[in-house]
Amino acid sequence: MAFSPLTTGRLTLRAMVPGDAADLAERRSDPATARYQAWVVPYPVESAQALIDAMVERGDVTPGEWFLLAVERTKDGRIVGDVGIRLSEDSHTAEIGYTLHPWARGHYFSTEATGAVCDYVVNVLGVHRIEATTDPGNLPSVRVLDRLGFIHEGTKRESYWVGDRITDDAMYGLLAREWKQRQ
Ligand SMILES: CC(C)(COP(=O)(O)OP(=O)(O)OC[C@H]1O[C@@H](n2cnc3c(N)ncnc32)[C@H](O)[C@@H]1OP(=O)(O)O)[C@@H](O)C(=O)NCCC(=O)NCCS
Repeated sequence: MAFSPLTTGRLTLRAMVPGDAADLAERRSDPATARYQAWVVPYPVESAQALIDAMVERGDVTPGEWFLLAVERTKDGRIVGDVGIRLSEDSHTAEIGYTLHPWARGHYFSTEATGAVCDYVVNVLGVHRIEATTDPGNLPSVRVLDRLGFIHEGTKRESYWVGDRITDDAMYGLLAREWKQRQ
């Protein structure tokens, strides 16, 4: 099965294609964007290409693997960022992650795109629970989760390595019934 694009008022979320590699590498190579992430800067276009090729091969959300969606501004097709989905092996839980280009921040694009992914994993994939983790100091990320109704369920102390720096990892969860109640 191929992933069918999701649409919101302003955005289109679609499976990445090989031509997205340069855009993904550019986004991940920005030091401020990568500050709380596990990838190393600069992020080579070859790494982006390999990641995308593996996702193209799978074609759709697959248990146990990250599947990144390119988020396009529908009015002009410009990519504002990405949202990732990783289904647990038993498909009961979906982990999500989100990144915007610096120029695209401050417009609720991330909240809108991630909300569409919450809709998708709950109503189409039928997950029971959605999870996200973030550095507690990554306040823009924490605020995206708060806006969507995620609950802070705890923080794993000194559990996440970003290069040679160790950080805390705050865990957030949202149950499918809680998401449905908010709609
Ligand atoms: C996390 C991330 C996606 C959040 O981006 P964001 O632009 O803050 O979030 P949204 O797209 O939902 O936009 C909402 C923000 O836009 C602001 N905004 C929206 N419309 C606005 C307007 N007309 N004027 C001013 N601000 C406005 C909102 O107030 C909100 O900011 P706030 O949270 O400070 O209140 C972004 O910081 C990022 O890409 N970070 C790097 C990658 C990363 O760390 N990802 C998280 C991994 S856990």
